[in-house]
Amino acid sequence: MRKTRINLSEQVRQNMVKLLNQHVTDLTDLFVQTKLAHWNVRGPHFIAYHELFDTLASHLNELTDAVAERATALGGVAGAPVQSIASQTSLDTWPMNLSRDAEVIRMLAERFAVVANSARAAITASADADPDTSDLFTEASRMLDKDLWFLEAHLAE
Ligand SMILES: [Fe+2]
Repeated sequence: MRKTRINLSEQVRQNMVKLLNQHVTDLTDLFVQTKLAHWNVRGPHFIAYHELFDTLASHLNELTDAVAERATALGGVAGAPVQSIASQTSLDTWPMNLSRDAEVIRMLAERFAVVANSARAAITASADADPDTSDLFTEASRMLDKDLWFLEAHLAE
């Protein structure tokens, strides 16, 4: 941990960096999986899904940046190499044999739900120690819930 003028204890900062970096890992994996869906989806709704997935990927890209930079601001090292992301992600591997639009969107909705619900849990987990990190997770949670809604709205469930 780097020294900083932020007046949170090193222990608190360390805990927050660990929590933030787990989300960077999951968000990075989700970004790649969303791009795999964007590239490989096929079916009658191709163009709508192809474009939706790219919009969701760009949201994830921005969110990952904000979460990683909070870890840096707290004096931590942000992010991880892809080899660590592969072993530490909370998500299951994206099935590369998937291309039918309805199956792709259901699979993606499952992945978004894992990350959205984990962001919601992180709001409470960080609330007492660091309200700023908690606020960032609130923003993340709201964004992920909204994007999950966009995915779920395509499923007649
Ligand atoms: Fe593209």
